[in-house]
Amino acid sequence: MSARKRTVVLISGRGSNMTALIAAASNPDYPAEIVGVISDRANAAGLGIAAARGIATKVISRADYSNKEAHDGAIDAALVSFGAEIVALAGYMRILGARFVEKWLGRMINIHPALLPAFKGLDTHARAIRAGIRIHGCTVHFVTLDMDDGPIIAQAAVPVMVGDNEDTLAARVLKAEHRLYPLALGLVAEGKARMEGGRTVLAHFADDADNSTSVVMAPDPLREETDLEHLARITP
Ligand code: GRF
Repeated sequence: MSARKRTVVLISGRGSNMTALIAAASNPDYPAEIVGVISDRANAAGLGIAAARGIATKVISRADYSNKEAHDGAIDAALVSFGAEIVALAGYMRILGARFVEKWLGRMINIHPALLPAFKGLDTHARAIRAGIRIHGCTVHFVTLDMDDGPIIAQAAVPVMVGDNEDTLAARVLKAEHRLYPLALGLVAEGKARMEGGRTVLAHFADDADNSTSVVMAPDPLREETDLEHLARITP
C-alpha cells in the first residue's frame, strides 16, 4: 500500500469522532494515520484521550493571539510541523479564516450532525425534531469558505423515532458519525474522493460495480440498525 496520509484532527471538546478516527487508523491497513491532535481549548476532554493513545497533542488557544488571523496562522504552523497532508475537523468550534481555508482547500474535511444542506449551523437535532422530519443523519464534507457548505463526501441516515428528544436523536446520530467519519476520511486518504472544480469527484468503486444493489434505503423503525456503510457508499 502507498504511504498512509498524515492526518491532523482539530477538536474543541469531547473528541468522540477524533477517537473513532484514531481507532480506525490503529489498523495499519487504513489509508490515513493520525499524527497529531490540535485543540483550541486546553480543557478539551479529547486531548487526554489522544494522549492516552500515544498521539501528539497541541493546545492553541485563541486568547494567546491578538487576532483571528494570528490564531489561524499558529494552527497552520502546527499543521506544517506535524507534516499534515489532511486536516480533519471533529467538533472544532471556531470558524477558520479565508486564508487558512484556501490554503487547505481540498485537504480539509469536517463532520456535521445533519444531512446537509439541511440544518447548517448549531442545534441541528433540536431543529430537526421541531421540523418534524422522519430521517436525519450526518455528513462529511470538504471545508470551503461558507460554513457547512462544502462538497459532500459521504452521508449516513438515521430514523427520527416517535418520542425522540434532542438527546436520544443526538446519540443515534453520533453512533452513525463514528462509522461515517472513518469511512469518509479513508476515501479522501485513498484519493477515492477528491475535490475538483468545487465538487466532490468519487472514484469508481470496483466492489460496487453492479449498481443493482444501489437502492435508497428507508430506515425501518422495527430494525435496530440500518446498513450505514452501504448507505454512505451510495449517497455521495
Ligand atoms: C459532533 O456531533 C460533530 O458532528 C459536530 O460536533 C460534534 C463533536 O462531537 N461537528 P465530538 O467532539 O466528536 O464528540
